[in-house]
Amino acid sequence: MLNQKHILLILTGGIAAYKCLDFIRRLRERGATVRCVMTKSAAEFVTPLSVQALSENPVYDDLFDLTQEDEIGHIKLSREADLVVVAPASADFLAKMANGLAGDLAGAVLLATDKPVLVAPAMNPFMWNHAATQRNVAQLKEDGIRFIGPETGEMAEKNEAGRGRLSDPLEIVAAIEDIFSTDILASKLTGKKVLITAGPTHEPIDPVRYIANRSSGKQGYAIAEAFLNAGASVTLVSGPVNLTAPQGVTLMPVETAQQMQDAVKAALPADIAIMAAAVADWRVDGASVEKIKKDGSGDIPPLSFTENPDILRELSLSDRRPALVVGFAAETQKVIEHATAKLDRKGADMIVANDVSSESAGGIGVMGGDENIIHLITKDGHETWDKMSKYDVARRLVDVIAAEVNK
Ligand code: PMT
Repeated sequence: MLNQKHILLILTGGIAAYKCLDFIRRLRERGATVRCVMTKSAAEFVTPLSVQALSENPVYDDLFDLTQEDEIGHIKLSREADLVVVAPASADFLAKMANGLAGDLAGAVLLATDKPVLVAPAMNPFMWNHAATQRNVAQLKEDGIRFIGPETGEMAEKNEAGRGRLSDPLEIVAAIEDIFSTDILASKLTGKKVLITAGPTHEPIDPVRYIANRSSGKQGYAIAEAFLNAGASVTLVSGPVNLTAPQGVTLMPVETAQQMQDAVKAALPADIAIMAAAVADWRVDGASVEKIKKDGSGDIPPLSFTENPDILRELSLSDRRPALVVGFAAETQKVIEHATAKLDRKGADMIVANDVSSESAGGIGVMGGDENIIHLITKDGHETWDKMSKYDVARRLVDVIAAEVNK
């Protein structure tokens, strides 16, 4: 529900603007107050009168209109909102936003706001994929602006398809609810740089074989998404997984533990590090450059191992240590005891422990599955969370970590 939430909706030019009439209706159904600002080009696609009728509020469109400025003023308009939503956001408007242009009311409001901003782009796929647009989007994400979409599908133009469709109004509403449901503290993560590791590592035996583990990356990717939704700027160092990184995350794909450590170092400085990756403790000593062949003798090739760097421990002890370091612990027995020992050994501020034995927690299959049961270990003790989805674990971690960094 969005009861008593004030949404400031900025409509910019594009054929998808008509969908925003439904979007306004959905917001109102959920109890939100909606005020709208329209750019001149938005008014070419939908009439201010329709927007006004659905929002039941005056529509603002002119920075230099004395009556409008007298009634509310662009500073007040931006500050009285709990959230600013730009939908549809055209390529032109994204370019203006990325450069901080404030020549019209929409631009001025965005520059003056102190509230979270959610952008739902809609444009032709070629425009979306253009290097200039992608540069602008990257800049805006860096500035803490949240994005939803665009989606892939057919365009209004005949024979055009690809990524560029405005997200469904209900999905935009869900993204808004998600922003509000994240604890107020979480908004204090705006501008914080969070470094997350996820997934397994692959340690080569030869060019075609490797040693791996059962991590799917789901828990780490969920954490990346939750932190992104809480306004943080997220770098995700990921081992090989079959997942798509959330839009807006800076992804650094790696394969081995050594590459993961290099990527972690390259991603510094960071305010917060969360190490959810299942890093191989050992790698094959002197992996073969050529594929190891059966020679017919029945002899098994000897494999010897060497220790991988402990990425978490080295990060915790380094002089570039993030202010808050959170480790994970994957245990199959004495979960809390072993995880508590890791808190000290790894030099972390918190350990998120989970039972990864095959019969763990009623057989939910933490590695690869969609749910988890977490024991949060800190220097003050531990607490156990109920079984929940990996995304809910991530959301709760956002709250705990936001409270910790804002202490
Ligand atoms: O990926 P999913 O399928 O969603 O499963 C999630 C998960 C079970 C992989 C995840 O919740 C989890 O527990 N990740 C940590 C797995 C692990 O390697 O735990 P560990 O107890 O072996 O390591 C302890 C900590 O040290 C971890 O933060 C790990 O990232 C880090 N580590 C370990 C070894 C190493 N060489 N370098 C490290 O940095």
